[in-house]
Amino acid sequence: MIFKSLLLNFDIEDDVFNSIYPKSIRQLSELHWTPVEVARLAAYYLSDNTKKKVLDIGSGAGKFCLIGACLTKGHFYGVEQRESLVKLSQKIAENHNIDRLEFIHANITEISFSDYEAFYFFNPFYENIERFSAIDDSVELTEKLYFSYSEYVRRQLSKTPIGTRLVTYCSNWTEIPEGFDIKLTANNGKLNFWEKKY
Ligand SMILES: C[S@@+](CC[C@H](N)C(=O)[O-])C[C@H]1O[C@@H](n2cnc3c(N)ncnc32)[C@H](O)[C@@H]1O
Repeated sequence: MIFKSLLLNFDIEDDVFNSIYPKSIRQLSELHWTPVEVARLAAYYLSDNTKKKVLDIGSGAGKFCLIGACLTKGHFYGVEQRESLVKLSQKIAENHNIDRLEFIHANITEISFSDYEAFYFFNPFYENIERFSAIDDSVELTEKLYFSYSEYVRRQLSKTPIGTRLVTYCSNWTEIPEGFDIKLTANNGKLNFWEKKY
């Protein structure tokens, strides 16, 4: 019902969408999961109305990928370090028959960006520097990791081809290498649509 409404382009409130999740996951939504409208805009931009392979860097409960695969022709891949969230995302995709979707249980440092064509980044490493925002205590969180993960993403993005699209949400741009330009901005500057120019 929720995904059908999305497909029909109905406005879906976040509270309604989040009802697909168990209560403990719903409670994390405001801080950690992409709002429906942001996911919709980002997914259209990144898939570019083609079958592009889009990587969500830290896919959490799968919200961005689920919405993207439902609404666009793109193939959505979510990499997530917390296994419980990967399992939950996979179960929801299966229950709602959403294809062109894959959730990978891994640390981002194990992923080569050369396997993907476009990238979504919703400030995934923030909990390493602001512990109040930690999702849980199942992974190591340190300031050092914040910088090493950001640097890994920056280096991987720097190797992508000209024309690569990236969307950042609530990012402080630490992970953006030279060569990426902002094409559009929304949500009071929190949502940025980038393209690699050189
Ligand atoms: C802010 S949430 C965003 C979730 C999802 N992208 C969305 O928009 O709904 C960031 C997620 O990134 C994951 N994450 C953080 N560091 C990671 C890393 N090094 N490798 C893989 N996942 C990571 C966290 O576990 C968390 O689930």
